[in-house]
Amino acid sequence: MEEADKYSKEMEVAVRVVHMVSVMCQKVQASLVADRSDQVKSKDDDSPVTVADWSVQATVGWTLSEFFGKNVSIVAEEDVETLSKPESAGLLAAVVKTVNECLAEGPQFGLYPPDKTLGSLEILEAINRCNSTGGRTGRHWVLDPVDGTLGFVRGDQYAVALALIDDGKPVIGVLGCPNYPMKKEWLNYHQNSSQTLSTRSTLSPKREQGCVLYARRRSGQAWMQPLIHGNEKLQWPNSAQQVIVSSIDDPSLATFCEPVEKANTNHTFSTGVAHDVGLRNQPLRVHSMVKYAAIARGDAEVFMKFSRAGYKEKIWDHAAGVVIVEEAGGVVTDAGGRPLDFSRGVYLEGLDRGIIACSGATLHDKIVGAVYASWDSSNL
Ligand SMILES: *[C@@H]1O[C@H](CO)[C@@H](O)[C@H](O)[C@H]1NC(C)=O
Ligand SMILES: *[C@@H]1O[C@H](CO)[C@@H](O)[C@H](O)[C@H]1NC(C)=O
Ligand SMILES: *[C@@H]1O[C@H](CO)[C@@H](O)[C@H](O)[C@H]1NC(C)=O
Ligand SMILES: *[C@@H]1O[C@H](CO)[C@@H](O)[C@H](O)[C@H]1NC(C)=O
Repeated sequence: MEEADKYSKEMEVAVRVVHMVSVMCQKVQASLVADRSDQVKSKDDDSPVTVADWSVQATVGWTLSEFFGKNVSIVAEEDVETLSKPESAGLLAAVVKTVNECLAEGPQFGLYPPDKTLGSLEILEAINRCNSTGGRTGRHWVLDPVDGTLGFVRGDQYAVALALIDDGKPVIGVLGCPNYPMKKEWLNYHQNSSQTLSTRSTLSPKREQGCVLYARRRSGQAWMQPLIHGNEKLQWPNSAQQVIVSSIDDPSLATFCEPVEKANTNHTFSTGVAHDVGLRNQPLRVHSMVKYAAIARGDAEVFMKFSRAGYKEKIWDHAAGVVIVEEAGGVVTDAGGRPLDFSRGVYLEGLDRGIIACSGATLHDKIVGAVYASWDSSNL
């Protein structure tokens, strides 16, 4: 089979289903933001983010098994135990309703809906189907249903990330970014001690809002399409446009992005590295894998994340982003300059200290060099 055709069916289903669940997430998030009295912030109850999380996993699990067979291997963040407990009955009912409403809209996205409404058992089965742990050989889908829980709850950035790994290499990456408008200018930048990418004041779903980025490994191209709105039909691939990384390679002009939360990276260390390489712009702090999208689209040039000692990065938090950034022309490695290893189960085993994604090799070399030079003086 031609390399170009090799994953065409997988790509098509992945783009359509991520698009469909991204629109579903927009609706669930809008209901959350509309109802501020609902001050549910945690993930451990039937808050809307939890409903969105399970509903995305069930919808993607069901759709992938329809197209690729019940044996399809899917690695995903949520396990079915919690949702199966008697005390989760209310949550399960909300998930069943959300999934059925979402699947019923399949034709708008070029996907066929189930013959009849799915019951709780079928929903639980679809979620449980995502119980694979990946591995060195064969094909494995990797899903982060709602990446950036806090961003979702705050009405800010979050992502739906789906990737296909084949013999240990991510070959397809699809990133649904429901709150990331097609144009950078439509974002609100909050100027503060750091900048935050936000959409807070423009939350109502509108035409310009939200996009899906996707790429196939070694195609040399990454694409972005606008999320559909209202009763529109998804025109794919006709509505997609190519994205490429920024051409800026002078650190003094570059923008770097990093996680918002201190728990997810060492801001002190990244600030030091930024200073050492001469990055002068304030960091852009962004929730979720939208950081990868920002690099791929040329909205930022550098993404750095330094995990605390002992934290193990999960494959679903990176696989889709890595394919998209690389095909858009960027470089992604660990902090030691080595490629990420997606072949060893659910964790990025052997990851050296952190992740560095850049728009090009010049910036990347400088950052990796600065990390190397400053490491001894830190106790990460
Ligand atoms: C599904 O997996 C089972 C057990 O691993 C195997 O016996 C069966 O042949 C597989 N079916 C298909 C369609 O691959
Ligand atoms: C996943 O769940 C199925 C039952 O739905 C089970 O047969 C299979 O062994 C499980 N796989 C893993 C890796 O736990
Ligand atoms: C700016 O920073 C302050 C202090 O950290 C915080 O209270 C405030 O919410 C921030 N404003 C925005 C718009 O993010
Ligand atoms: C973060 O990095 C700084 C130095 O760059 C170091 O002193 C500090 O201990 C680190 N913090 C954590 C939590 O690892």
